[in-house]
Amino acid sequence: MKTPAQPTVEPPVGISIEGRDGEARAGTLRTPHGSVPTPTFMPVGTKGTVKGLDRGELREIGAGVVLGNTYHLYFRPGAQIVREAGGLHGFTGWDGPMLTDSGGYQVFSLAKTREIGERGVRFASVYDGSKHEFTPERATRVQEDLGADIAMVLDECPPANASREYHAASLERTARWAERCRETHGRSDQALFGIVQGGLFPDLRKRSLRLTTELDFPGYAVGGLSVGESREEMLGTLGLTAPLLPPEKPRYFMGIGDPVGILEVIGLGVDMFDCVLPTRLARHGSALTVNGRVNLRNARFRRDFGPIDEECDCRTCAGYSRAYLAHLVREDELLGHRLVTLHNVRFVTKLCEEARRHILDRDFYGWAGWWTERYTGGSA
Ligand code: GUN
Ligand code: ZN
Repeated sequence: MKTPAQPTVEPPVGISIEGRDGEARAGTLRTPHGSVPTPTFMPVGTKGTVKGLDRGELREIGAGVVLGNTYHLYFRPGAQIVREAGGLHGFTGWDGPMLTDSGGYQVFSLAKTREIGERGVRFASVYDGSKHEFTPERATRVQEDLGADIAMVLDECPPANASREYHAASLERTARWAERCRETHGRSDQALFGIVQGGLFPDLRKRSLRLTTELDFPGYAVGGLSVGESREEMLGTLGLTAPLLPPEKPRYFMGIGDPVGILEVIGLGVDMFDCVLPTRLARHGSALTVNGRVNLRNARFRRDFGPIDEECDCRTCAGYSRAYLAHLVREDELLGHRLVTLHNVRFVTKLCEEARRHILDRDFYGWAGWWTERYTGGSA
């Protein structure tokens, strides 16, 4: 006998935690486009492409969630075209999990002129200077058109040097925007995550956390960090925010991608994070190695016939020498950018895989300390 369809109460995205070591969590993030072991680094594909890598290569290096940016995709090619293509999955051909940032951060970081009010934020396009407005409703609908597995609420990410008064008022508005986003959001195959703001002020962080979690989102991001404050300030603030987030939901730290920082935020209980750093560094000829970052333009690599990283299992390290890559990078050859990007994204992905194993083995902090010491040459 056929039973009538039941309304689903289960959110489309969730996490199961399989192991803990202190605050650190090892789990599995479930999305409509597959599951991802956590902690996980999410490569950034701002304009619908992780620059230089195709979907086969992303798969090959074990990429989990791929990011897109509402701000850029809204202008080019436009949310309507992406929607007609079947959303970002249909448009880009990537059939794994995806997440779009709301565009708030880009408006605040890119726009020279912007006006923020209760309704939303008005700004001039970086592309042609034309005037636009993102409201919480608009940012949510655009992200529904883009159709990633995870969408983010429209938030304000104030600069690190904004005053306490500014942060206090801003976080209240961000919370009101979050509620409007939630009211607007209607896609049952997409999860909308909330974002905690509040600058570096412990009480404001707690206030933002309470207002945001009261809205009962299926996942939460910690935003407004990695915006110019010191590492100590960033970790201190994250350290008092993350433990207060609902333990049964995914936790996303916005904007960290250096290997040491990745281990630090994992140690504070973060499940997912993103950053342009590994891909951007690659395009500037910088490669990540277990002994630290190296710039392949350096003269010492011209006759170095070993791989970028002895321990790496990527295709670049299996088949190409530092000398060859140094040559490609110096000549600005496309292949150089591609091969170093492939390596750097694999490097941080593998770091997350190792972190996960050590969390499950409950020796994460000792291992992370050892790893960091080796990476920084003992200067950390
Ligand atoms: N990316 C890095 N930080 C932030 C933030 O605070 N908000 C949003 N929306 N995106 C970010
Ligand atoms: Zn490699």
